[in-house]
Amino acid sequence: MGAEKKWFFSILSLTFLSVLLLVFHSISTSSSHRPFPSLVQLGVPYPPAFGYYIFGGNGDKDRVFRLLLAIYHPRNRYVLHLGADATDGERHSLVVALKSVPAIRSFANVDVIGNPDRLSYMGSSFTAATLHAAAVLMKIDPRWDWFIALSALDYPLITQDDLSHVFSSVRRDLNFIDHTSDLGWKVYHRFQPIVVDPALYLARKTKIFLASQRRSMPDAFKIFTGSPWVVLSRSFLEFCIVGWDNLPRTLLMYFNNVMLSEESYFQSVICNSPEFKNSTVNGDLRYMIWDNPPKMEPHFLNISDYDQMVQSGAAFARMFKENDPVLDMVDEKILKRERKQVAPGAWCTGWKSWWSDPCSQWGDVNVVKAGPQVKKFSETITNLLDDWNSHSNQCT
Ligand SMILES: *[C@@H]1O[C@H](CO)[C@@H](O)[C@H](O)[C@H]1NC(C)=O
Ligand SMILES: *[C@@H]1O[C@H](CO)[C@@H](O)[C@H](O)[C@H]1NC(C)=O
Repeated sequence: MGAEKKWFFSILSLTFLSVLLLVFHSISTSSSHRPFPSLVQLGVPYPPAFGYYIFGGNGDKDRVFRLLLAIYHPRNRYVLHLGADATDGERHSLVVALKSVPAIRSFANVDVIGNPDRLSYMGSSFTAATLHAAAVLMKIDPRWDWFIALSALDYPLITQDDLSHVFSSVRRDLNFIDHTSDLGWKVYHRFQPIVVDPALYLARKTKIFLASQRRSMPDAFKIFTGSPWVVLSRSFLEFCIVGWDNLPRTLLMYFNNVMLSEESYFQSVICNSPEFKNSTVNGDLRYMIWDNPPKMEPHFLNISDYDQMVQSGAAFARMFKENDPVLDMVDEKILKRERKQVAPGAWCTGWKSWWSDPCSQWGDVNVVKAGPQVKKFSETITNLLDDWNSHSNQCT
């Protein structure tokens, strides 16, 4: 068993090394920026823009496309990744679907990763795939303000106009990252007062303890953990990817052998780095419900969760089954989105009716207009920023 395990870890290490090389390579050979059309103005004082990474696996093409339409805005950048288990045919039909949308065609701000077999986002390479996507987004056009990763099972609870409007009042170097150094925190806050299944808790989290005891490294840094769903500033990702400091690479090597590294990698890098740890806002902006007893993933949300979900003040929710009726409800009531059309925003000036796409014509894409959902989300951000100002809930 020992030998087998060693082989397994060496293969993992090799995968990680090659991903690292790939990430650094793709950033260092960055030659052909493809700027936005001149209609799009980015940076301060314009409203913030987001670099989105949407990933899915085999059979997820339609979900990825639907999610993209729900969060589309001409000012954002999108990288879509169908993992290695999806076919090239599926990837190709995703590209064809994108071409059918007038705004996406004109603004050309959506890219599909065409070479996915070099990495898979499952297991421990999830973090590497996320770093790769961030590197690609930087290479294409490094002027977005925050990076947001979403899976095919996610959906927004607010419009992009709302998101950008609320983030306009947030310092652009802040990172929204749920984190703690109490590795048992999740038991208390997520699983209680539900009866905790100790076998599950141990199976899941002792991996972190085991890994840290097997090697002598953790003296050099403290491990933090939290939700894998993060909203990261471009400056922090540059620090992780372009790397003028050894910390991100050292930790990437370390987390290589840790299950669910996506729950600890960014948390540990940011909280161990003196120049970034003050930029952490302790929240993930997501809505999830955990089963009783808890499983590895939160439970699927459905129509009976709708009210609680939209009242939560979160920006995104997960997980949803494909085409669940609750998604149609979000489209109808919040996003005002028709099937196969992008969610309209203040930039859309076309005729609005069920047969015509209001976003097939546009005016000024640099203005955003807040809608009714903005209130709850704005409260969430205000509360988190109060917390941030008091430094009470930061990397401790
Ligand atoms: C971070 O915050 C701490 C505590 O408020 C402060 O002492 C330190 O100087 C800050 N560091 C940076 C880099 O701003
Ligand atoms: C919604 O999900 C809950 C929990 O999984 C389940 O008990 C309920 O029956 C579901 N409701 C509908 C309408 O599918």
